[in-house]
Order: sequence, then structure tokens, then C-alpha cells
Amino acid sequence: MRIDKMLANLGYGSRKEVKKLLKDGAVLVNGSLIKDAKEHVNPDEDIVTIHGEEVVYREFIYLMMNKPPGVISATEDTREETVIDLLEIEDAVFQPFPVGRLDKDTEGLLLLTNDGQLAHQLLSPKKHVPKTYFAVVEGEVDEEDIQAFEEGVTLDDGYETKPGYLKILKAGQTSDIELTITEGKFHQVKRMFAARGKRVIYLKRLSMGKLQLDETLELGEYRELTEEEVELLKEGR
Ligand code: URA
Repeated sequence: MRIDKMLANLGYGSRKEVKKLLKDGAVLVNGSLIKDAKEHVNPDEDIVTIHGEEVVYREFIYLMMNKPPGVISATEDTREETVIDLLEIEDAVFQPFPVGRLDKDTEGLLLLTNDGQLAHQLLSPKKHVPKTYFAVVEGEVDEEDIQAFEEGVTLDDGYETKPGYLKILKAGQTSDIELTITEGKFHQVKRMFAARGKRVIYLKRLSMGKLQLDETLELGEYRELTEEEVELLKEGR
């Protein structure tokens, strides 16, 4: 890989800024001064330093965000704030994208990565990756809803859902529930409840595959996944 590309990928500036760093003599590769932006390096083997500091190269980034309401799960938008707008520049330079979408008003676990292969596996309908949501629902959620979800309900467009597993945490005028589904149709949780004549008034994703939302993250905060969490996600895919 070209040295200027590697350093630009890592967020050391644009290709032009990186060229200047090289020209200024800030960059050593295996102890030798490198000024040519076209120089090739092996990020896995060569030791690159900038102003004496070693550069750690990596290709992929895996972030867990506690998505706040009011932002959209897209990489860019002309009008709306996106989850990418919430990232620090040193993370955004890796060009992560959200793995699947949460509605603008939905909160909770959102995985952001630039690992297209992992994203594809997690989103593939064939993999049936379970996703668990917490919801507050208007009306009393009951045993019949549990049964109906387990059998699959018919959505407004005629689609027959796969079984969903509903747990009632509190039933009353409004009900607190947890629902686990293995699909990701547009507005699926809301539409499943609509199929039962009920309305979701709050929705938060708690888990995706074996990855659980870190509840210490405030809304809008994010952190990198631990190596263990990345492994868990890959195992479960
Ligand atoms: N189901 C929904 O209805 N909305 C979401 O954001 C996620 C799942």
C-alpha cells in the first residue's frame, strides 16, 4: 500500500496534507526517512513513525453506539443529522456505516463498521440473526399477542413474519415488553404490534446476535467493540 494512502486512511490528513508531512521529513519507515508519497509499505510488517510516534495500522473499525432519537441511520443526508455526524473525526476517517437501520425515533444498539463482510453476514436474511428490542406499547399486551407473534403475524403489506418471541415485563394501560425477532423488515416491530391493533410508543434495541448494548453508554455515545465482542459477533454470524 502507498504510504500516503495508509496515512490518509488513518486520519493523518488528506493525501495533500500527508504529502507535506512526508516532505517535511516527519515520516520514518523502519528507521529510514521516507519523503516519497508513492513509496510502498506493508502495514503488517513495516514500522512507520510520524515525529517519532509509531503508527498503528488497522483496516477495520467496529463501533457500538447507543443511538439517540432524532438522528437517522444513514451515512449522509442533506437535511437530517446522521449517526455518522456523531462520530469523532478519528473514527469517521475509517468510513464506517451503520449495520442495518433503526428508525429516526428508535434508540439503542447500533453497530457501525467498515467491515462489509461482517455487515453482510449480520444482515443476511438467511442467517436469522436475532435482534431483541425493548418497547413501550399503548394498550395491554397479553398472552394472545405472545401466541400470535410466535406463530407469525401478517403485516400491512401481506408479509407473514417469522416467529417472534415476546416477553411481557409490565402489562397495563401501557405495557413494557421485550421482543426478539430474526428479521429486519422496515418498521418491523411497530408493524407487528400494529397487526395486533397496538401502537409502539417507545422503542430501543438491546441486542444484535450476541452483542449486547453497553448500558453505560449515554444516548449518542459510542465506543469501540472489545476484541471479545468482535469475536462473538463473528462466531454468531
Ligand atoms: N422495528 C421498528 O419498527 N423500528 C426500528 O427502528 C427497528 C425495528
